[in-house]
Amino acid sequence: MIYFAIDIGSSTTTIYEKGRGLVLKESTLIAIEETKNGEMIKAVGDEAKELMQFPIANVKIYSPIKEAEIKSRDKLTALVRAFFEKVIGSGAVGGNSVKGSGTKASKGAKKASKSAVSKAQSSTLGAKFAVICCVPTGASEKDKATYFHSLKEAGADEVHLLPHSLALANYLNLLHSHVPCFAISMGHGATDFAIIGNVLKDVYDRGRKEILTGCTINIGGSLLNASLTNYVAEHNFFEISSRTADIARQEIGTLQQNDQSSLIINGRNLLTSRSDEMRLNSLLIREAITPYFLQICTVIDTMLKFVDKKTEEWLAQTGIYLAGGLSQTHGLDIFIKHHLGLNIKLADDPLNAVVIGAGRLWDSKEHFDATVALSD
Ligand SMILES: Nc1ncnc2c1ncn2[C@@H]1O[C@H](COP(=O)(O)OP(=O)(O)O)[C@@H](O)[C@H]1O
Ligand SMILES: [Mg+2]
Repeated sequence: MIYFAIDIGSSTTTIYEKGRGLVLKESTLIAIEETKNGEMIKAVGDEAKELMQFPIANVKIYSPIKEAEIKSRDKLTALVRAFFEKVIGSGAVGGNSVKGSGTKASKGAKKASKSAVSKAQSSTLGAKFAVICCVPTGASEKDKATYFHSLKEAGADEVHLLPHSLALANYLNLLHSHVPCFAISMGHGATDFAIIGNVLKDVYDRGRKEILTGCTINIGGSLLNASLTNYVAEHNFFEISSRTADIARQEIGTLQQNDQSSLIINGRNLLTSRSDEMRLNSLLIREAITPYFLQICTVIDTMLKFVDKKTEEWLAQTGIYLAGGLSQTHGLDIFIKHHLGLNIKLADDPLNAVVIGAGRLWDSKEHFDATVALSD
């Protein structure tokens, strides 16, 4: 049996394998070709992202997960199957039908893709594998069932679902300590919050940790990109792509007024309707993104009202742990400290902390039983 953990983010999917560490990090994208015989997979992951730059007729690129919600179970299943195929070693992806067994393909198309499909099936059936799948803390029961069944259909023999926040707490070695923790993971599509603490249910229960209160909201990098795009259009009469907004936000975005910088960006001048360039100032980015970080502060503040006084006092001492790409926003620690008076600790590998934290649970049966088995 091979033991994996997977974190299917809105922008990036990561897979961790017990004994090997991080084995896959690719865009959560699938390129589908519409043929007269049905939908066929053209590319997945980073290859599908590359195709975005060179549009092909009849090929559409999808992200099966948006703002932490599953948009298409079939595409999610096809994507994770292809990813596990890559990791397990068979490699063949192109030509597979989206439905996996070629249900939509005609005889001819089935023939063309037969070797790819049979490779996919033999790789998933040939190697037995178990997966811990990280899911949003606030995932609906329907989405949790979809994650479970998608992974099963993708060939996993054993599937366990684990909230992001518990995976992050395990990465931080806080899941099996006696101290409560506030874990937040901020990604491209959503931000995931949880206060994790001890619940002593009976004398045999030696301080098992549970989510005391948690939620997932749809504030993430993609919403911030949309806000920045609108801001630039309104203030500078300049149209930029969300990709440009993402790059600018990462390079010069800040929540601090006193660290100003600027960047030349490309786009379309809305006054002349021509391609052009302009200098974007970080203060404009700050204006565009600040309201969303204020909303994040409101969620943190509200959640603290749901826990008992003792837990709140602990959290005031321990502070808040952050992970996820968006947690790298410049000045975020000072911003939260200023608004809520709480200290911030950024996970040392913010982009991979969740999947590594989940994957490490395979190393300890005791920790696995106390966390994953109980979340099942
Ligand atoms: N230095 C940075 N500053 C601000 N945002 C960042 C930075 N680095 C990455 N991001 C943002 O993080 C997001 C991706 O984070 P990630 O945790 O991989 O998301 P997901 O798990 O949802 O796919 C993107 O929106 C990206 O813009
Ligand atoms: Mg992620």
